[in-house]
Amino acid sequence: MELVIAENLVDAGVLAGQIMADHVRAGARSIGLATGSSPLGAYREMIRQYNDDELSFEGVQAFLLDEYIGLPAGHPQSYRQFIRDEFVSYVNFDDALVHTPDGSAADIPAAAADYERTIAENGPVAVQILGIGANGHLGFNEPGSSLRSRTRVKTLTPQTREDNARFFDNDLSKVPTHVLTQGLGTISDAEHLVMIAIGMGKAEAVAAAVEGPVSAYCPASILQMHPHVTVIVDPSAASYLKSVDYYRFAFENKPAWQNF
Ligand code: F6R
Repeated sequence: MELVIAENLVDAGVLAGQIMADHVRAGARSIGLATGSSPLGAYREMIRQYNDDELSFEGVQAFLLDEYIGLPAGHPQSYRQFIRDEFVSYVNFDDALVHTPDGSAADIPAAAADYERTIAENGPVAVQILGIGANGHLGFNEPGSSLRSRTRVKTLTPQTREDNARFFDNDLSKVPTHVLTQGLGTISDAEHLVMIAIGMGKAEAVAAAVEGPVSAYCPASILQMHPHVTVIVDPSAASYLKSVDYYRFAFENKPAWQNF
């Protein structure tokens, strides 16, 4: 696992965006996207590269991590719509190649199985961008999620619903209680995991995920079991890490041939 302590939110986003863009230039056919605020800087960097003719998403498939259950198609806070509004509509993604679990399906377990099948048919995902919940969730795998789980329904914790109420006019009653999310096993199938965490509110979760025990109680600790992980944090999110000096030294002395 590589731990990068960026100067600030902007640098963190640019670095994550560069990593994803490098994968696409290197021929990635499938990439994994996340919603929420953490990946927005990475999306901005990729939009910039696209506008400067440095990057093209022609023929690239995208897979989102998760989707709320019960929001009608086109709802501004559905993750399908969120990713259009924040990223894919600004670049040359084919909308038909942008995949989300179908949270409005009548048969949710069938929708979960469909999503797993679509990823398997088009995978592996070359690079998956991730945020982390203040409670250590990854995707919407809340504490207690099986470390080998696949796409399925999850119930959001009260904390996650409160954290996300900001996207729903700060009205908790509007935040769905259930989601369809890629499982920790599904996420782990991606070849390179890039997690971004910004701000003091993520510091405890980052320390638990990176330096704590691997445990279903901190779902993001599954990163420790993956062969290729980059965690990008700002100094606040790094506040509770023990080995900060080592992480900085390793990054400053990274061999030039080690691309990602
Ligand atoms: C989003 C997702 C979540 C978020 C996490 C952090 O698709 O799966 O795990 O990444 O809740 O959210 P932000 O980035 O808004 O702090």
